[in-house]
This record gives sequence, structure tokens and C-alpha cells, in this order.
Amino acid sequence: MTGRFRELWDEIAPVGRDADSGGYLRYALTPPELRLREWFREQADLRGMPVSGDGNGNLFAWWGDPPTDGPATDGPNAGGPNADGSAGTGAVLTGSHFDSVPHGGAYDGPLGIVSAFLAVDELRAAGVTPVRPVVVAAFVEEEGARFGVPCLGSRLLTGEIDADRAAGLRDAAGVSFAEALGHRPAGADPALLGRFAAFVELHVEQGRALVDADAPVAVASAIWPHGRWRFELRGEGNHAGTTRMADRRDPMLTFAFTVLAANKEARLRGAHATVGRVAVEPNATNAIPSTVTGWLDARAAEPDTLDGLVEAVQAKAAERSRRDGTELTVTRESATPLVTFDGGLADRLAGLLAAPVLPTGAGHDAGVLAAHLPTAMLFVRNPTGVSHSPAEAATDDDCAAGVVALARVLEELACH
Ligand code: GLV
Ligand code: MN
Ligand code: MN
Repeated sequence: MTGRFRELWDEIAPVGRDADSGGYLRYALTPPELRLREWFREQADLRGMPVSGDGNGNLFAWWGDPPTDGPATDGPNAGGPNADGSAGTGAVLTGSHFDSVPHGGAYDGPLGIVSAFLAVDELRAAGVTPVRPVVVAAFVEEEGARFGVPCLGSRLLTGEIDADRAAGLRDAAGVSFAEALGHRPAGADPALLGRFAAFVELHVEQGRALVDADAPVAVASAIWPHGRWRFELRGEGNHAGTTRMADRRDPMLTFAFTVLAANKEARLRGAHATVGRVAVEPNATNAIPSTVTGWLDARAAEPDTLDGLVEAVQAKAAERSRRDGTELTVTRESATPLVTFDGGLADRLAGLLAAPVLPTGAGHDAGVLAAHLPTAMLFVRNPTGVSHSPAEAATDDDCAAGVVALARVLEELACH
């Protein structure tokens, strides 16, 4: 399997790779990601898997009958996750996303899609025939790196975001999501969602837990609640050389204080706070900025801790803004509640794979879908423990172990 993994992986490895950083620039619906979506169709075609869309930019390759109209079964997720071993008609969904953060790693997202196709091959080579469809998905704009809202595709499919709001989200160049997609997104599709009995997303691990556990694969227990808040700070643009220090209304000072406050408040609570993106106007060395906009990414194990953290950062930013004579507006751009994955399913898969079970602070489409159908995640060891960076890593052997694990899970859920 290691050789087959490398062979397929090499097909996509150059797509969207930045020669200088070695990281990936695969923003949703831009040429590299469109190329990967084309590759997805080619791979599905090679395997005789018809591809359907949901009008939101998400793609589904079906091993088994694709949807015609309406759910295949009575009621949502009929057929179940096969918890009692009985056969049903609900499909088992797997897959992940192609898009990356700026200069992201190779594995975050694509590993789940490549592994899904290889797991299908593995089952076929073993002569296994599913009694319910197995579906490989490619979700659009999981990172929110282009349009700001993470898991945009799965939020649209599940109705967690209004289609009009999603349509109007704009990238840095002013292109709307609807324009990039070529049409207004279709929004919630309960009929399609109702065809899925379970979702299993395989993903590279984004921390060091599996290195510490000395295991190649784990099963997820939970995703920390998290969200994004935009802090817009307005002051007075002016000359760097002629404006007396006492006369300045400099939003960069408020911003700097806010970043330090976020770090301190997160540490005090055992939470995570990051300001990884900033926009400065006019962004000139010799001008006091008129506006600074920073994006706070905040995460914590418990919802109350997260709320307390964000309130504290906002209060400190507001207080500092009064002292600096600047104006502060805070807008929540996205929020993801605590996700506790289906405990029965996680325990069952952990038993099947003899794998550890761990929580994560990273967001995933699986976190969105978990509110709508039995959902599980598999993590593949990352020797550097680094992610959202070119340093993200996984060995071919561990990726192969991930494929074998996913194939066992699909067999367990779809083939009996
Ligand atoms: C997605 O990778 C996230 O956790 O932001
Ligand atoms: Mn990511
Ligand atoms: Mn991801």
C-alpha cells in the first residue's frame, strides 16, 4: 500500500505548491484547487464512480447508486451507522477538502480524499462488495482562507449558513463566493444529507499526540469550540515625521495591546488565541495607520472558557482603544460549537483499529456534519506535529496505515 499511496500522492503533490516556501496555495475555486477538483473527477471516473454535486461546490463520487431525487430511505439517515449490524440503504460518506491555508501543508485535507479513493481500491481488491453506497466527498472552502468562513461547503449543505450570506462573502480581491462558484449556492440539501448514514473523515493529525502515543492512527473524540472575530480599529492616518507623539490616534497601538492581551488571557485559561492575519491602511512605513484590522482565532476545551476568553479580550481592546482615542468594532465571523463525536461509533472504531481516542483543537467538516449524522474522524500521525505550515508531515508508511484503517472502517460500516 505504501507504494500505491506514493504513486497517487505524487499526482497531486506539485499542484499549487509554492516553489519558495514549499507550502501550498490552494485556495477554494482558484486554478490549483480547480485542477484538484478535475483530478477528483478523473479518479472517480477511473473507478466507475459517478460524481454528483450539491450546488454548493461540494463534490461526491459514488460507489453505488448516486442520488436521483429525494432520499433513498425514510427519514434522516435511515439505515443508520450500522450500529446493530443490520443492513440499510444509507450511504457511508468519507473524504475531506482540497483547499489550503496560505502556504499550508500538503496533507491537511487532500490526505482524506486520496486515502478515500485508495480505501475503495483496497476493498475492491479484497473482493468486498458494500451493501450500501460508499461516497467520497471533496468539500469546498474548508479553511475559509479565501472567503473567511471555515467549512463553508459543509455549512451550506447542512443549512448552518444562509445561502444568501454565503453567496455574498467576498475574497480579498472583491470576488464573491457566488461569482467564484458561477452561481448562487443552492444551500441546505436535506434530501442529500438524508442519504448518508455516517461520515468518516480521515485527516493528518495537527499536533503531537500520536507521536507521544507512538501510534500511526487515532480516532477523534471531540473538537474544541472555536471561532473567528474581526477587530477593526480606526484612528487617524498622519505623517510619521511631523505628528507629535501626544497628538496621535494610532490604531496600531490598540492592535498591539489587543494581541498581547489575547495571548495572556488564553494562557490564563488554558485556551488558545491567535492573531495570524492583519490588514493595515495605508500600510506605509512613514504613515501612522488610519485603520488596522486583525482577526482573532480563539479556541478552548469548554464553551464557557471560550466565551470568557473572547469577552476578556474585547474588554481589554475596548479599554485600550479609549486610551488611544481609536474606535473599535468587533464582528464575529464564524463560530463552531463544541463537537462531541458519536461516542458509540468512536469506541467501536477505536476497538476495531486498536487505536487511541483523542480530542483536537482543529476545525473540520466532520465537526459540522456531526450535528446531522453519526460522524467519526481518523487521524494519521504527523512526525513534526506542525500543521498550517509547509513543515506539516506524514510518512508514506503512516499514510498507508491510514488507508488500511479507513478501508477497515468502511468495510465495517458499509459492507455488512
Ligand atoms: C481548520 O483547519 C482550522 O482548524 O482552522
Ligand atoms: Mn486546516
Ligand atoms: Mn483540514
